[in-house]
Formats: sequence, structure tokens, C-alpha cells
Amino acid sequence: MTTQSPHAEKPGTVTFDFAALSGRERYKLLIGAVVPRPIALVTSVDAQGRVNAAPFSFFNCLSADPAILALGVEYRPSGAQKDTGRNIRETLAFTVNIVSEALLEGMNICAVPFPPGTDELAEAGLTARPGVRVPCPWIAEAPAAFECRHHTTLGIGNSREIILGEVLYAHFREGIVDDRLHVDPAALDAVGRMGGHGYATTRERFDLPTMTLEEFTARR
Ligand SMILES: Cc1cc2nc3c(=O)[nH]c(=O)nc-3n(C[C@H](O)[C@H](O)[C@H](O)COP(=O)(O)O)c2cc1C
Repeated sequence: MTTQSPHAEKPGTVTFDFAALSGRERYKLLIGAVVPRPIALVTSVDAQGRVNAAPFSFFNCLSADPAILALGVEYRPSGAQKDTGRNIRETLAFTVNIVSEALLEGMNICAVPFPPGTDELAEAGLTARPGVRVPCPWIAEAPAAFECRHHTTLGIGNSREIILGEVLYAHFREGIVDDRLHVDPAALDAVGRMGGHGYATTRERFDLPTMTLEEFTARR
């Protein structure tokens, strides 16, 4: 798994040629090192309007204008699509609910591989509120939720797809966003995914303003 690079390497560096790694090995290195990853508890509906919810930590905000959120949705080992991926294909909509510490237990129940048609929100005891711009509900217990219209699906292999959604509408619990649209991270209390089954809170924070070139030069 570890390869000796023909290039001069810094002593003490362990290197990996990704072409020589299995998918599982790449997964372990990436999810262990690209941390913390935010968690989207994605609500969607199928063509019959049946509600589905599942967490995704191959997730991030990739653009603000247009407002684009991205999900990495794998297929099941059988090759079947997960309900979330199938629902988005059918209805061209989904809602991202941000996972706070209070939502963790419900989020973990939504990750259980229930058969298609199961309402994970009901199983988890979470409250579905009707979407405003999309047919998918948003979760009342979530600190923030973003209603998305399908934008693009990137087919990146035969076992997964990357789904981009454009945010049409947002819900924030009262007390999280101020008049200047600053989001209070303590009130949001988002959790992140670490490697394996690890999670991290966002409670230890600090500011580090980016310097102007003049400020940087003045330090010399
Ligand atoms: C914290 C967490 C993050 C997850 N992230 C992903 C992910 O990014 N992509 C993915 O395909 N599955 C991910 N999963 C697994 C799915 O949530 C799981 O397969 C779920 O059963 C899919 O449900 P669905 O068939 O209703 O869409 C994650 C699970 C957990 C607990």
C-alpha cells in the first residue's frame, strides 16, 4: 500500500500512489484526513410523495452565486441507487438539513438502511414541516435547512454520483441569524464528521482574519 516514490521525498513522509490503492483504502485515507466534513441530513420525496431522510457527509457548499450545495451519493453494494439518489432523480429536488448536536441521534437513525418507502423521519421521531419551494419537507428540529432544486448530476464512476443542488429557500431557527445575516455558530451548534464513526462539535472556535498585502508586508 505504501510506495517508495522515485521523487526525492521529505524524510519521514509516507506516500501513497492512489492508482495502486483499492477504493476502500482511498476512502480510509480521504475521510480520515479531510476533516471535519459537514453533515447534510437530506430530506427528499419519491414520485408518490413518500418522505425519505438520510445523512451525507460527502457534502459541502461549493458556490454562493449561484448558491450550490453538493452531495456525494454512493450506490448500494448491490449496485442499486440509495433512496435519496433515486428520489432526487425522480423529483429534481431535495432539502439539506444541517445537523446539530441535538439532531445527532435522529440523524443516526436516518442512516439505518431501511427498505425503500420507509419514512425515516417518523422512525427517528423528527418533525416534518412542508417545503415552501420544493415537495420535500424540512426538519423542524434542524437549526437550518436549505430547500434545493436539482442543478446537475456528475456521473463520476459506476458506483456513485455527485449531485449539485441550487438553494431556493432557507429556514433558520429563530436566534441563529442576526439582522446583518451573520450566523451565530454557537446557536447553530453544527457537528462534523471525522474518520470512521467519529464526530466533532464546532464549539472550539477562533478568528484568524486574512491579511491584506500591506498588513503582511508591514510585519517584515
Ligand atoms: C454521518 C454519516 C454520513 C454519511 N455520508 C454518506 C455520504 O456522503 N454518501 C453516502 O452515499 N452515504 C453516506 N452515509 C450513509 C447513508 O446515510 C446511508 O447509506 C443511508 O441508509 C442512505 O439512505 P437512503 O437509501 O434513504 O438514501 C452516511 C452515513 C452517516 C451516518
